[in-house]
Amino acid sequence: IINLDDFEERFEVEFYGTASQTQARAQPIAARNLPIRFPQEELDSFNVRGVHLKKGKTVEFLNGTFLKIAKIIKNADTEEVVLRGWLLRRCSHMKGILPKKLNEVCFVLEVELDDPRPVMEQAMVQVGLEGLVKIRHLVSTNYPHPHLGFPRVGLPYDTKEDNMEYVKDYERLVVRWKFITYYDNAAEHSKSPCYPTNIRKRMLAGLTEDECTPGCFLDPATLRHKWRGDTIIGGSERIEAPAIDSPQNGSIYTYGDAFCGAGGTTRGAVAVALQVLWGLDLEKNAGKTWRANFPNATHYEMWAHDLVAMINANTNLRVDILHLSPPCQVFSPVHTRVGKNDQQNFDSLFACCALVHKARPRIITLEQTFGILHPKFEAAFNSLIQIFTSYGYSVSYQIVQFQNYGLAQTRRRLIIVAACPGETLPEIPEYTHSKDSSNLKPLTSVRSVLNKIPANCPNHDIEAAFARGTTKPAWDASRAIPTITCDGGAHGHPDGQRRFTERELAALQSFPHHHVFHGSAIKKQIGNAVPPLIAEILFKAIVKHLRKVDKGEQEKRAQVID
Ligand SMILES: C[S@@+](CC[C@H](N)C(=O)[O-])C[C@H]1O[C@@H](n2cnc3c(N)ncnc32)[C@H](O)[C@@H]1O
Repeated sequence: IINLDDFEERFEVEFYGTASQTQARAQPIAARNLPIRFPQEELDSFNVRGVHLKKGKTVEFLNGTFLKIAKIIKNADTEEVVLRGWLLRRCSHMKGILPKKLNEVCFVLEVELDDPRPVMEQAMVQVGLEGLVKIRHLVSTNYPHPHLGFPRVGLPYDTKEDNMEYVKDYERLVVRWKFITYYDNAAEHSKSPCYPTNIRKRMLAGLTEDECTPGCFLDPATLRHKWRGDTIIGGSERIEAPAIDSPQNGSIYTYGDAFCGAGGTTRGAVAVALQVLWGLDLEKNAGKTWRANFPNATHYEMWAHDLVAMINANTNLRVDILHLSPPCQVFSPVHTRVGKNDQQNFDSLFACCALVHKARPRIITLEQTFGILHPKFEAAFNSLIQIFTSYGYSVSYQIVQFQNYGLAQTRRRLIIVAACPGETLPEIPEYTHSKDSSNLKPLTSVRSVLNKIPANCPNHDIEAAFARGTTKPAWDASRAIPTITCDGGAHGHPDGQRRFTERELAALQSFPHHHVFHGSAIKKQIGNAVPPLIAEILFKAIVKHLRKVDKGEQEKRAQVID
């Protein structure tokens, strides 16, 4: 197995070292949707080459794209007419992030985070009339495919191929998705899109009521019900189950952890009082740790695809929140040789698909190396996204620096959040710590973390650490440590006298001192983990979001009863 962590620093160099070399776009970005001023004037309609253009209509262009017209603008001096509106592409041209379905299209929008205007307002693009082909009928909806799609009967030709061509050229199009790329500002936007150098985050979301054609919007609660049946508002699918590790009374959200390792993410879930129902991991040492720390939950010690294969009526994996940490070795940008476990790693990535189908979570979180965003892995990454979108999940993803959430470690990861049909996406939380912003807390130092470890803590054998000696030099503990990897990382204890104890590594990964590690390969268990602090911050934001949604739904139901 390629140990991804060995390549962490090379990732940094490859991804961030090229940041300054990001190219300007071949086509500069036109200033977006600026006010219309003389000599420009807005027209209600316009005829060009026999095509009657009107606000609200959708036009097709020779290059295969479409534009939903918001404004028709004429320059009174030059007589030139341009269109402003929203760009659409066929889902089959979205490089695999959406299922390929005939006549299904997707809004493709780009926005700047420092522009306060709503997304749809600032994302309008301006195009000329060259290459305009014809008007197309477009339905905007949040109904799942194939509802409201083109008619499947009464098509004019005898063969499927001919009818498909006909549908493609003349039948109605349906938009159910918007794909939004976020840049920090216009300067970043003007560069060629490249993760993570200038793209801040991306989102694939369903349409809101305002964005749907009148009569084509389905109530979100109904949409969710179609996907997962009854949802207990306020949380908890299995109210009869004991409230594991959760001191609070009343309903709570349930949680499942696929690829749970030694429990970094599970620990974060417990910290925000999620009811942990199950964990899955094939690794036996990590399993010993997980079971000891979360004794009331079910642990499946097996390959993901074996769990999927053995699922039957008795294995209820249903949860409100599902976390996935599929193995990421194959996504190292420097992983050029075929490894003996590559196929299994790919399989486990796609076992995620079956897990989503069985767990039917309201919200999914996924943590991965950001190497998966390397252009070399575009197809695999886009297929991962399609696992979610094929079930109608909205998805957002961004690379985050964990140090800016208060971890004493410079560790960057990709976070993906997905929300089931009818559910809205929670925001990935804003940073809380910074080197230079006075509005945020200062960064956490290694020293402050190490100083808090009690002398009698488990997994903290200082004498053994001295006995093993070290060749690693002393270093300044007032700063953060680079990523802690499965072998403990490149640094020894900052005093230069010894290696870290397991507890010190765990504390730097933000494990609470009472999280005890069992079995062997403990450094690997620790290095593999998602820092519990990060999981806690993410799950806290998700719980807050779900509570707000549920409160709104409860109020709506109460109004109906009144
Ligand atoms: C990045 S670690 C997960 C860390 C965990 N979420 C945490 O926070 O501690 C990935 C885990 O996936 C497990 N794993 C890898 N391939 C697997 C598979 N096909 N089926 C089940 N578990 C697998 C590994 O044993 C490892 O513990």
